[in-house]
Amino acid sequence: MSEIAVRPTAVIVLAAGAGTRMKSRTPKILHTLGGVSMVGHALTAARALDPEHLVAVVRHQREQVAAHIHQQDPGVLLADQDEVPGTGRAVECGLDALRQAGADTGSGTVVVTYGDVPLLTSDLLQELVAEHQSSGNAVTVLTTELEDPTGYGRILRQGDEVTGIVEHKDATDLQRRIPEINSGIYAFEAAALTEALSRVSADNAQGEKYLTDVLSIARDSGRRVSALITEDRWQVEGANDRVQLQALGAELNRRTVTAAMRAGTTVIDPASTWIDATVTLEEDTTILPGTQLHGDTHIARDAVVGPDSTLTDVTVGQGATVTRAHGTGAVIGAGGVVGPYSYLRPGTVLGEDGKIGAFYETKNVTVGRGSKLSHLGYAGDTTIGEYSNIGCGNITANYDGENKHRTIIGSHVRTSSNTVFVAPVEIGDGAYTGAGAVVRKDVPPGALALTVAPQRNAEGWVQAKRPDSAAAQAADDAQNNTNTPTAE
Ligand code: UD1
Ligand code: CA
Repeated sequence: MSEIAVRPTAVIVLAAGAGTRMKSRTPKILHTLGGVSMVGHALTAARALDPEHLVAVVRHQREQVAAHIHQQDPGVLLADQDEVPGTGRAVECGLDALRQAGADTGSGTVVVTYGDVPLLTSDLLQELVAEHQSSGNAVTVLTTELEDPTGYGRILRQGDEVTGIVEHKDATDLQRRIPEINSGIYAFEAAALTEALSRVSADNAQGEKYLTDVLSIARDSGRRVSALITEDRWQVEGANDRVQLQALGAELNRRTVTAAMRAGTTVIDPASTWIDATVTLEEDTTILPGTQLHGDTHIARDAVVGPDSTLTDVTVGQGATVTRAHGTGAVIGAGGVVGPYSYLRPGTVLGEDGKIGAFYETKNVTVGRGSKLSHLGYAGDTTIGEYSNIGCGNITANYDGENKHRTIIGSHVRTSSNTVFVAPVEIGDGAYTGAGAVVRKDVPPGALALTVAPQRNAEGWVQAKRPDSAAAQAADDAQNNTNTPTAE
């Protein structure tokens, strides 16, 4: 990473465009990749420069975009673009808003980025600013070379020097053959930017005030303009439609998964592993194929997640295993065992060495250390103490049709198969339940709760009621074999 000599006066993130090719009611820059909106990625990179001011220029779907931006970064100054179109006008509006907010825009570095270029890293932005400041340029533009530069502005050069940018629509056939394109990301000397913008006209193929015209204007007034060329085209690529968004999302994921592997995570199949930019993993973690880790998920050392698991805002403790599970808003303690086929809903807290096993659904449940819910059941609004064993098929009836109620189960409790807890109900420490118990009353510590009526066998019922059935025949055969001694 390069060093910045002086913190930028401002970063201006352009976000006023319409984004019609998304074909979406959601504003383009609110579409997400790696679990974060495009503009969220842009703001994170911009904020890392530690600018005195961070500005976002908005217009299209203003309220929704503005609310989202403030949710991402409450310190952003919003600037409204007026009806004059173009990137140059957008930056002018950004500078106006800064001055209205009392900022000194007469000196220092002003960086311009886009809200729809999500893979741009703060490292590359730092490099741009450092290069700009050390060269004493009026403008330093970030560029790259593309095999197919169609649609982009082309960089015009005389030798090493940049003389200007021509938009694809305004370019001659010869200029259209130039492979070096304008990324739209720049560092400007503030005074030169303001000066040049005041001279930009809308006399071009699109009738817009082009920011790109600032380069030739600055150069014509004797100032230096140069380019920082990046070979990493992904960092300057924007998403205009959902195909490009997917491609950028896949590349971001490749980068996130690669970074995780370099930092000590074993990933068996990067292609089927999706890790949000916000997820954190410790060393010696293992992610098995078909796993998606989202949001504020954290995986601690020696934990194994997958295959085929989706975790959102889940904390997985040291050495825990999560197999074929779907979890949201849950905490899995160290050494915990989850799955296969478990559904952990918000508020699930599994204690150290606890287990939520096959085909279990949990919601708003605290399971103490070493307690196990091993197979086939539902626990909701429940607290379980330590080292209790909840039998197969146990269910908390936590909802009476109108309200939710809690079930409280103590420590060292043993519940038998198919116990139903009709909440609110409390099971004391060391208590047991019998198979099929429907527990409606509190069970004191150490008691065995039984609710099953005595079994009665109606002898001969099948032969009487289903005389010609296979069952009756089988019963007859069994009775003849055991009851009738064979004649010798
Ligand atoms: C722009 C550049 C082009 C460059 C390309 C890179 C100009 C004149 N052209 O072209 O040289 O190769 O980006 O992607 O700058 N925006 C506003 N207000 C506006 C217009 C745009 O805020 O009035 C924002 C958009 O939301 C977007 C960015 O500026 O984030 C670029 O706008 P876009 O229309 O995509 O610019 P291009 O025509 O692609
Ligand atoms: Ca564009």
